[in-house]
Amino acid sequence: MLPIRSLASLALGLTMMFESWGYMMPHQDPTDILILVNKQNRAPAVPVTLVKPDVTPTEPAYSENIYMRPEAAQALEALFEGAQQAGITLYATSGFRSYSTQKAIFERKLETMSERSANASVAKPGYSEHQTGLAMDIEGETTKNTGLTEAFGESPEGIWVAENCHKYGFIIRYPKDKTDITGYVYEPWHLRYVGLEAAEEITQLGVTFEEYILMVRGDRIGALQEEE
Ligand code: DAL
Ligand code: ZN
Repeated sequence: MLPIRSLASLALGLTMMFESWGYMMPHQDPTDILILVNKQNRAPAVPVTLVKPDVTPTEPAYSENIYMRPEAAQALEALFEGAQQAGITLYATSGFRSYSTQKAIFERKLETMSERSANASVAKPGYSEHQTGLAMDIEGETTKNTGLTEAFGESPEGIWVAENCHKYGFIIRYPKDKTDITGYVYEPWHLRYVGLEAAEEITQLGVTFEEYILMVRGDRIGALQEEE
């Protein structure tokens, strides 16, 4: 891994190489915890091992909705435990989703809003990070059951999570004011497991996951574009 300062300057150069953020990753390993899934990059359609983290679901009925990949589940348990020790109570709402679950969620969204608005908040089936088993939507005691809203980000639980989740290998995947890069509105509740090293670097640099992947894998993306 390159030191952070070199990563930052590399990022600047690479950012200038690309006119938009719509780049496609070549040949992603479906088991890589740094897999990039977004509007341009599909979630791999291969089965992944999933386990249920030992955390409290927001509703008992959600307990079958919170599966994750084992490394992410273990990290989530540590995050919830660390929060509890700080007097912060968190709940798990939505982890792994199958293609058909994501399809149902997207279609339900379309019943209440235009496709353009739906696209800004819910991924189309096949393109959700939730399909990797590396993401979890969480809620906190203060805003529990008010739905997943921006209010979570202002709550004591949301503030604690934003400040501390990197210590457990998670990032806030869709930060405020980064819609032009991530393609999604601010989602303070959507955590993505990327591992400790990447989470620390992303947080220190203050970059999105898209920018970070461009920094660490940009040479491969650039080479591929030159071949085209
Ligand atoms: N809300 C996020 C973008 C998803 O549907 O995966
Ligand atoms: Zn989510």
